Amino acid sequence: MAANIITSIQALTIAAQEMRAAGKTIGLVPTMGALHEGHLSLIRRARAENDVVFVSIFVNPVQFNNQEDLVKYPRTLDNDVRLIGDNADYIFAPSVEEVFPAPPAEQFDFGSVANVMEGAARPGHFNGVGVIVGRLFHWVNPHNSYFGEKDYQQIAVIRELVRQCQFTTHIIPCPIVREPNGLAMSSRNRRLTPEEFETAAQIHQILVKSTEIKGDVPEIKAFVESEIAKVPAFTLDYFEMADDTTLQTVHSFSEAKGVMGFITVYIGAVRLIDNIRYR
Ligand code: PAJ
Repeated sequence: MAANIITSIQALTIAAQEMRAAGKTIGLVPTMGALHEGHLSLIRRARAENDVVFVSIFVNPVQFNNQEDLVKYPRTLDNDVRLIGDNADYIFAPSVEEVFPAPPAEQFDFGSVANVMEGAARPGHFNGVGVIVGRLFHWVNPHNSYFGEKDYQQIAVIRELVRQCQFTTHIIPCPIVREPNGLAMSSRNRRLTPEEFETAAQIHQILVKSTEIKGDVPEIKAFVESEIAKVPAFTLDYFEMADDTTLQTVHSFSEAKGVMGFITVYIGAVRLIDNIRYR
């Protein structure tokens, strides 16, 4: 059966409460739409692991620190609904007025996981993510919530949101889905020209090569920075190597058990993010 499309918070909470009362397990997949295989992998996993699946599609204005990015963000609801097919029971696609009849007042302090990298580069971004995801958790009260590791730091922030607000949902991290050329799938990829799309694949290729460098953190950082600099279309925003749990910068592999690399690159006006595990 095709999913039920809901636009009001009231209908959303009633549906979720009825399902819970009927003893069903609820999976939630929050998205901003313009769905691709990355999103669909989360939705299919939610389908496999829960009795009932809620997908939200909402381009959340309060997490955009760049007005142009918000305006240009692709909105493709009809196609999204078609792609979801019967992999969800409910699609929550509210208007901005429904979610924000007034500007949100929530002010979170997610601490150190939110102050680095994306948090430092995009002031207010994680607070805006916390506002919408916190409200979704509140309305749907899901047993399981699905997030992609493409936005690895976002998962750390959401774990902190769950801890601080004592939400009971389990956070299920899902692996990055890539294009055949290696580029991490992203709704923003639609804004790339075919040529930029091919060039952008080098981000992942450079990261993969960097895992083969014999050396410690400074050697890997130098390699990635110099390889990115060789591609004229790229402007590096940051490349950081960080503890996979605290997200704090490491200067040596000896400083953390798990170490990941986090990169953000502009290609034209489009900002792309990716990450890779070193150990
Ligand atoms: P959005 O960018 O639409 O992504 C929705 C979910 O899909 C996120 O958990 C994201 O990490 C995941 N995702 C995106 N691309 C992916 C890929 N290539 N492989 C695996 N997972 C991928 O992230 C957001 O929206 C918003 O911040 C949101 C959490 C919905 C709050 O507004």
